[in-house]
Amino acid sequence: MSIIIKNQQDIQYMRISCKLAAEVLDYIEPFIIPGVTTNEIDKLCHDYIVNVQKAYPSPLNYQPSPKNPPYPKSICTSVNSEICHGIPNDKPLKNGDILNVDVTVYKNSYHGDTSRMFYVGTVSPQAKRLCQITYESMWYGINQVKPGNYFGDIGHAIQKYAENNGYSVVEEFCGHGIGKVFHEEPQVLHYGRPKTAARIESGMIFTIEPMINQGKKQIRFVSNGWTAITKDRMLSAQWEHTVLVTEKGFEVLTISEKMPPIPDFIKI
Ligand code: MF3
Ligand code: CO
Ligand code: CO
Repeated sequence: MSIIIKNQQDIQYMRISCKLAAEVLDYIEPFIIPGVTTNEIDKLCHDYIVNVQKAYPSPLNYQPSPKNPPYPKSICTSVNSEICHGIPNDKPLKNGDILNVDVTVYKNSYHGDTSRMFYVGTVSPQAKRLCQITYESMWYGINQVKPGNYFGDIGHAIQKYAENNGYSVVEEFCGHGIGKVFHEEPQVLHYGRPKTAARIESGMIFTIEPMINQGKKQIRFVSNGWTAITKDRMLSAQWEHTVLVTEKGFEVLTISEKMPPIPDFIKI
C-alpha cells in the first residue's frame, strides 16, 4: 500500500470537511467552563455537527480493529493526564483542568480532523506552558512540510522542541493520512531523525497531532479499551491540524477564526 495523492476534487472536499471540524472547536469553546461535563460537550458537538453542519461525527461507532469496542461517542475529550481518546462522561470539569477536544467531521465522503487544548477556568502556569509548548511543537512539525522533505524531518522537529523544553513525546500514537478514509497511510511519527522515512510529496494530506507529556513518555491504557493515560499520571497535551502538501510547502486545512495565533516563527 502507498500514500494517496489527492486530486483537485479531493482537495476541495477536504477543505470543506476540515473547516467544519475547526468550526466545531470554535463553537464549543465558550461552553468549556468549570462544572460542565464532557458528556454535555459531546452532545453539543454532536448536535452541531449533525443538525447545523449536516455532517457526521467520524468517531461515533468507529472501530478500527475488531479487538476494540466501537467508539461510543462523537468526540474525544482528554483531561489532564489523559493522553488521547478520552471518552466523554458525566464527571464535571473542575477549575484548573486542561482539556483536549478532538473533533473529526465526515462530509461529502471526506474526513477532517483537528484538536485543541482548552483551559477550564484558571489554569496553573505549568499546565499553560505544557499546552503552549505542545502547540508550538505542532507548528515546528508543520513547518517541515514541503515537497522533498522527509516525514522524519517532521518528527525530529517536534521531538527536538519538546525535549529541549523538558518534555517527552508519546510514541504509541501518530498522525495519519486522511481523506475518504479516517486513518490511512502514512503514519506521521512525532519523533525521529532528519532525512528518514518517506519523502513528502505535493498532494498528500495528513494530520500532525503531537502528544507531549510533562513527565515521562510511558503510557498506560485504561480498561475502556480506548483511553491512554500517562503512566506517571503527570499532564499530557495535544494539538492537531490536517495539512495539505502544496508545491511550495503546506496549507493548513483545519484553520478557523478562533484558533490561537500561528506562532511568529512560521513565515507564510
Ligand atoms: N481524532 C482521533 C485522531 O486524531 C481519532 C479518534 S478515533 C476515536 O486520529 F474513535 F477514538 F474517536
Ligand atoms: Co487524527
Ligand atoms: Co483527531
